[in-house]
Amino acid sequence: MTTSRVRAAPLLDREVRIETDRESLTDALERSEERFQLLAHRVGLGVYRVSLEGRLIEVNPALVRMLGYARESELLALDVQRDLFVDFLDYERLRLRLAHGAIERVAARWKRKDGAPVTVRLSLRPVSDGRGGIAFHDGVAEDVTERVRHQESLRRTERMAALGATLAGVAHELNNPLAAILGFAQLLLKKGVDAEARLALETIDHEASRAGKIVRDLLTLARKREVERRVRLDLNDVVGYIVRTRRYALETHGVRCLTTFGDNLPAVIGDRTQLEQIILNLLNNAEAAIRAARDDGGRVYIRTRGEGLSAVLEIEDDGVGVPDEVRERIWDPFWTTKGVGAGTGLGLAVVRDIVVGHGGEIAVERGTALDGARGARFIVRLPGVCGHGPDASELLAEAASRALDVLVVDPDAQSANFLTAFLASRGHAALAASDIDYAVRLANHLPFDAVICDAGIAGGASLAAFRSASGCRSARFIVAAGDPASTARLPLPLPAATALVMRPYDLEELRVLLED
Ligand SMILES: Nc1ncnc2c1ncn2[C@@H]1O[C@H](COP(=O)(O)OP(=O)(O)OP(=O)(O)O)[C@@H](O)[C@H]1O
Ligand SMILES: [Mg+2]
Repeated sequence: MTTSRVRAAPLLDREVRIETDRESLTDALERSEERFQLLAHRVGLGVYRVSLEGRLIEVNPALVRMLGYARESELLALDVQRDLFVDFLDYERLRLRLAHGAIERVAARWKRKDGAPVTVRLSLRPVSDGRGGIAFHDGVAEDVTERVRHQESLRRTERMAALGATLAGVAHELNNPLAAILGFAQLLLKKGVDAEARLALETIDHEASRAGKIVRDLLTLARKREVERRVRLDLNDVVGYIVRTRRYALETHGVRCLTTFGDNLPAVIGDRTQLEQIILNLLNNAEAAIRAARDDGGRVYIRTRGEGLSAVLEIEDDGVGVPDEVRERIWDPFWTTKGVGAGTGLGLAVVRDIVVGHGGEIAVERGTALDGARGARFIVRLPGVCGHGPDASELLAEAASRALDVLVVDPDAQSANFLTAFLASRGHAALAASDIDYAVRLANHLPFDAVICDAGIAGGASLAAFRSASGCRSARFIVAAGDPASTARLPLPLPAATALVMRPYDLEELRVLLED
């Protein structure tokens, strides 16, 4: 008895100890579970337990919030496969993988109560039923929607930066052929041609300068450079021209253009091509917004009016409209809702840049005139002028009053040919050199009134070499650049009597620089 009692004592002791150990283990487990729940709550992790039939059994408040529900009970009533997963196949794939063990940090697309998609990162583990099977699955969900969106936007910005660099190169390559097209069209226009040929040449001239300008606008935006030519303009004229050129294309896509031109508009001082680009970009956006809304087309309302000293343009569509929460972001460069390849998000950034560059302002409002309150209305307000300014139609009318000797330095034969032809048409004498050594040799032997030099050549010590050449003592210098990058090596500020012009050439600008 004594012996057995003696023997039993340590046994009892052990049982007591095991019991105590189990209690403290359970305590510890509960504490760690609580700590985990607290942590999950703090960092906003959704924690849940789901049955094999796809019913939620337990959820934490963070998950309820993440999915936009008001109460736990709403979530517990859901069918996970149907109500939670955007793609039910994702759910099936996860279930299959869970049969083989836990899954760490896998991405999935869920939907909120309002249907909005949420990107979540899930960690899942099967919980055993104690008989070799699986009783249910435990999951932890992290909402990574914003992070993924941010990464996508970073990637897009990087892509656009790379595209910007490519674009600068392409612009450089495009500028020479464009300069030749534009230049020769302008030269032919100055010859006596019949009405049909004149119309064709004017269109070539106009479209080539617009193409050149679009390339430059992109570069302007990317590098914050401004090159422009301002004349006195009638906004109705500019709007009318663009509407005429775009109307057919828009109407074949079922988009009707309704116009109301005000008759009390003040004239504006502006760069015609830039103002045309405003209207084009706004019309393009209107068309896209209409197409996004429905297949059978829609309407664009284009109105102009005078308002005090301002000329006002409104372009309104009955498309999808601009949601309030993105109203400020639409102006950001590279912000777009269009698919990859469909839009770069530069349109409105360029528009805003041009409007502000003209001293004006632009706003967007909800559409009002068409189909109730749908659509978007863009309002452009430009400052008007009184009195007289230079008129585009009067440009290049008379011949030069004094013949000049001009040295053209350009490695591109097309571009040099165009310049010499233009100079000859103005009654000037031109000599062309394709490299700097030859040009400086010429300038050491012959006197010149002006030198037009390609920016790529004019960099480094070249301008100084010209300055010291005996034939260039009193010459005017015009440095011609195809794109802002080629001006990078120029000495800044530019020496006295030196002007910078951009290609494609603006002949009036060139004329003024040479002759006035
Ligand atoms: N008329 C409009 N109606 C509804 N949304 C518009 C309208 N105009 C612009 N937006 C929104 O603003 C975004 C930015 O417009 P923006 O013109 O800057 O770029 P984009 O049209 O997307 O591309 P890009 O003009 O460079 O081809 C568009 O993607 C669209 O979401
Ligand atoms: Mg656009």
